[in-house]
Amino acid sequence: MNRPTLLITRSLSEPVLLRARAAFDVKLWPRDEPIGLQLLPWAQGCQALLVMATDRMDAATWAQMPPTVQAVSTYSVGHDHIDLAAATGRGVPVFNTPDVLSDAVAETACLLMLSAARDASAAEATLRGGRWGPWSPTRFLGRQLTGLRLGIYGMGRIGLGIAQRALAFGMQVQYHNRTVHPDAIGFVYHPTLESLMAHSDVFCVCAPSTPQTRGAVNAGRLALLPRGAVFVNIARGDLVDEDALIEAIATGQVGGAGLDVYRNEPTIDPRFLQLPRTTLLPHIGSATHDARSAMGCLAVEALQAFLLNQQRPANCLNPDVFPMRTADTATRP
Ligand code: DGY
Repeated sequence: MNRPTLLITRSLSEPVLLRARAAFDVKLWPRDEPIGLQLLPWAQGCQALLVMATDRMDAATWAQMPPTVQAVSTYSVGHDHIDLAAATGRGVPVFNTPDVLSDAVAETACLLMLSAARDASAAEATLRGGRWGPWSPTRFLGRQLTGLRLGIYGMGRIGLGIAQRALAFGMQVQYHNRTVHPDAIGFVYHPTLESLMAHSDVFCVCAPSTPQTRGAVNAGRLALLPRGAVFVNIARGDLVDEDALIEAIATGQVGGAGLDVYRNEPTIDPRFLQLPRTTLLPHIGSATHDARSAMGCLAVEALQAFLLNQQRPANCLNPDVFPMRTADTATRP
């Protein structure tokens, strides 16, 4: 195929666009807002799409997808916005951007753990508001992470990055996954989320959003945390019952919270803004120059490898599509 057309649904950094333009005729959504319902009309005539985590690609979208579209990359590691079964049904491989953002997101988790444990947001707001006052031995007191038990819900590549950094803080690392992670050597495994939460002085949500994990962090489980525990979420907002979390922070059951993700982004439950001991970030987990450039390049390279070099990139989320496509090609006249 010569110079397939690639739709990119948000402007990316110049090195990424250069790379994309080297292999594709690029159609770039020009507005600084999600493409939304314009995705389908803009995808007309395109062979490849590079979409964002804000672009919903549900079954209804796939049902109307132009037949020219043969491959999709998402500029994210999370893929809860994409109906993979529907993509597979259309014979379209979907690629994501694992690994290259793990360090950036793990650093964001550390930033939130530290800020929540020390209530840095409130301290900074006090300074900015001109209310610092004389130095005091008893103001701005928080918790130090040294010696605390860190519970990681969802030990994957990002979880491992957080765990390694937490060791440097002198924390004891434990985790819950459905099964033991072969690389999580030396970290305590909890077979249930309940057990992990009951033993977490700092609890960090790192699991992907799936039908099994959505809403898993609910009122009953938050009540299991040791009173005053620090709560961090760098994964997806819908893993957490936000009403229950807000109540837990308000009552002091959760002693500090650091959140990067929310249920209805970018709309945030206004009650969060009034809560004490809470650091709120606007989903910046992977927002470093390095990570974002690497994500873009990885997303473009996968499309190029598949469409132009007939390869099967390892970062394919629905690899069962490849044999289907081979059979399809083999039987094509
Ligand atoms: C991801 O890659 O999934 C991040 O949350 C950015 O959307």
